[in-house]
Amino acid sequence: MEAVGSLSAMKALARDRRRSGLTIGLVPTMGCLHEGHLSLVRESKARADVTVVSVFVNPAQFGPNEDFRRYPRDLAKDTAVLERAGADALFHPSAAEVYPPGYRTYAEVTGLQDRLCGRSRPGHFRGVVTVVLKLFEIVRPDLAFFGAKDAQQALIVRRMAADLDLDVEIVTCPIVREPDGLALSSRNAYLGPEERKAALALSTGLRWAERAVAAGERDAARLAAGVRAVLEAEPLARIDYVEAVDPETLEPVAEVRGEVLLALAAFIGPTRLIDNVRLRA
Ligand code: PAF
Repeated sequence: MEAVGSLSAMKALARDRRRSGLTIGLVPTMGCLHEGHLSLVRESKARADVTVVSVFVNPAQFGPNEDFRRYPRDLAKDTAVLERAGADALFHPSAAEVYPPGYRTYAEVTGLQDRLCGRSRPGHFRGVVTVVLKLFEIVRPDLAFFGAKDAQQALIVRRMAADLDLDVEIVTCPIVREPDGLALSSRNAYLGPEERKAALALSTGLRWAERAVAAGERDAARLAAGVRAVLEAEPLARIDYVEAVDPETLEPVAEVRGEVLLALAAFIGPTRLIDNVRLRA
């Protein structure tokens, strides 16, 4: 595996592979890699000739009171994990090169960026879209892989790629969970033992909703209220939002008809976690 730190070296590597007629898959990450990321790497290896994984903790997507400084970073471990996973290249640019002094250009996906997580994290998706667009421009991938846990992010990136006529296929891969149901997230590393147990309330609530739909419940407000009740029963949990929305527009829905995205965010102690499920009537 080649580890590449500079934008020019990454562009040169990608250009070389393209000239050899190889397709490129990009897995954008912020590092602290777990099985969820590795499922994206595996999908990329299955679908593209060359798999590039970017590791960049993007300052532009963190709010002033968020965890940018303490976000877990371990490039040596990530490098070893990616070697074992068979990635072809690791791209780990510096913030100074991605956002040099005088940097002023940002991309936005209006509307979609302001719903769900965007409401409590203003500017977050502007930061995500900007860095993803930059990564697309540097690597010029044929395919790019995103996890379904970040459903809003995947939708917004897909919208951006369509709106800007980008020549990249956005692939969304299923959520990977611990055996007990907790969705994998780099932020799970923040959880102490009691918080780890409490965090199960997220997936437990969503599973309750799935069972309720299977039993015939169609009322979105009652489903969201049921999930809230599961979270409210957990003393360490504080709800940010629980919403049943149209998976394409993120507009709230009144009932489950076709496919509905039931998405939530909750604080477990100081750690904000997200999870979601697709409900199908
Ligand atoms: O999902 C993430 O890890 C980040 O939001 C991404 C897509 C790598 C952009 O910084």
